Amino acid sequence: MSDAKQFDVVVIGAGPGGYIAAIRAAQLGFKVACIDEWSNAKGGPAPGGTCTNVGCIPSKALLQSSEHFEHAGHAFAEHGIDVAGLALNLPQMLKRKDTVVKQNNDGILFLFKKNKIAFFHGRGAFSSAAEGLYQVSVTGAAPETLSAKHVIIATGSNARELPGAPFDEKLILSNTGALTIDAVPETLGVIGAGVIGLEMGSVWRRLGAKVTVLEGLPTFLGAVDEQIAKEAHKLFTKQGLAINLGVKISKVTAGENKVTVDYANAAGEAQSAVFDKLIISIGRVPNTIGLGADAVGLKLDERGFIAVDDDCKTNLPNVWAVGDVVRGPMLAHKAEEEGVAVAERIAGQHGHTNFNTIPWVIYTSPEIAWVGQTEQQLKAAGVAYKAGTFPFMANGRARALGDTSGMVKFLADATTDEILGVHIVGPMASELISEAVVAMEFRASAEDIARICHAHPSLSEATKEAALAVDKRTLNF
Ligand code: FAD
Ligand code: NAI
Repeated sequence: MSDAKQFDVVVIGAGPGGYIAAIRAAQLGFKVACIDEWSNAKGGPAPGGTCTNVGCIPSKALLQSSEHFEHAGHAFAEHGIDVAGLALNLPQMLKRKDTVVKQNNDGILFLFKKNKIAFFHGRGAFSSAAEGLYQVSVTGAAPETLSAKHVIIATGSNARELPGAPFDEKLILSNTGALTIDAVPETLGVIGAGVIGLEMGSVWRRLGAKVTVLEGLPTFLGAVDEQIAKEAHKLFTKQGLAINLGVKISKVTAGENKVTVDYANAAGEAQSAVFDKLIISIGRVPNTIGLGADAVGLKLDERGFIAVDDDCKTNLPNVWAVGDVVRGPMLAHKAEEEGVAVAERIAGQHGHTNFNTIPWVIYTSPEIAWVGQTEQQLKAAGVAYKAGTFPFMANGRARALGDTSGMVKFLADATTDEILGVHIVGPMASELISEAVVAMEFRASAEDIARICHAHPSLSEATKEAALAVDKRTLNF
């Protein structure tokens, strides 16, 4: 006990939930330690978690590079730019992605220093709890024991395996392998048409792979507003993604260089497909491996998540948990919001995370973004609503960009006109959605957005027009 290094707050995990919680706690005057076990290729620390190392950041780097490649091959000609001798330099593309990741790792290490947070590289595990203090051991190159009154757990999630098809990251790939394929496969199978399947499927399709997506559910993107999902399905199919819905996978067999997937299609007919690589993206599972939950009696729920209340409090006094390891959407910005809120609660403030206004973005091309309720959710809840849509085809900036696919859709309360949901499929949807998030956070009406001056020509005019469409008075359509 006496040898333990004393802190006010120990954070386990330096992904978006953990490192942001650590920074906010330090800003509030606490003595903070943060432990993370992720290592880079040289064995050094690589804070930032799934998001920075094998998630948000590298996937967006490859999405950007592959989009440039696709534009150079097709879209540039329309703009009067002829590209001769176009060639893919995949090693350079992967190297750039690794550089972007490293910049983010280094940025977090800098932020730890700046905020005087003690960083420990290794695995953190509860070892004991006594007299209001938790002891957390760090195992790794430099073992340590830390003690603190407050512990924030932010240990994240891992890719879910398909039974009978363990990831080997050579032929059967999780998100980790999907981001490091070193030669464009001729044929790529993707099991799961969710966020990862569509983003990574898009990357490798743009680079030349023939991509087949096998989805278990009969509906495409079931959580997305139906009208938006239908439009996206049409656009992705036109791009060449072969999306098969309602399939039932029976067997995955990895051979020497190929992987075979046996499945029944939606009609129940037996099918067999052979791929050069297979990405399995069927969701993620909370990570509590090696955390020592038992040593202190930390309670998990029936699905393996750390059980928390609305304030991210666990069953143990002064032990908190945030991000992918607890209920709620597995999104980096949700983890960050919870991290900030917990640090503020520890300081006696009223930290708050509004689950109704957490935006979702799928970074395909076009992008899909939404916040709030879908039309099918409102119908199911019996809420009377008005809908308004505006197509990017009628937006001047979209025409100038040469990207007129998709639409903006507003859903507003039939009586009060309060915005209940905004759904976008189209160019820069990831940026456009922020206006809707702000509006909903301030409980704005569709009329509020319709009456605000938006710059011309800008994609955001489509947002204003969709708000006008709620009252059937679009100006440009
Ligand atoms: P994590 O980021 O998983 O971090 C947990 C950290 O804790 C890891 O570094 C881990 O090594 C460490 N750790 C675990 N146990 C211990 C221990 N016992 N001791 C020490 N360290 C430990 N979300 C978005 O919002 N936008 C996106 O564009 C996006 N893209 C994604 C793309 C992919 C391919 C994937 C897989 C995910 C993506 N996500 C995206 C989801 C996002 O990555 C997660 O929601 C986010 O990383 C969760 O943050 P976290 O802090 O809870 O956990
Ligand atoms: P997901 O939950 O988005 O999609 C999984 C898909 O697999 C679903 O459509 C599901 O019906 C399907 N599926 C499940 N079991 C199946 C089976 N046996 N056979 C066929 N299909 C099956 O999960 P995904 O894509 O793995 O991503 C995990 C999480 O990571 C996301 O939910 C999201 O929270 C996060 N993420 C966020 C991103 C973003 O914000 N842009 C990008 C990537 C991931």
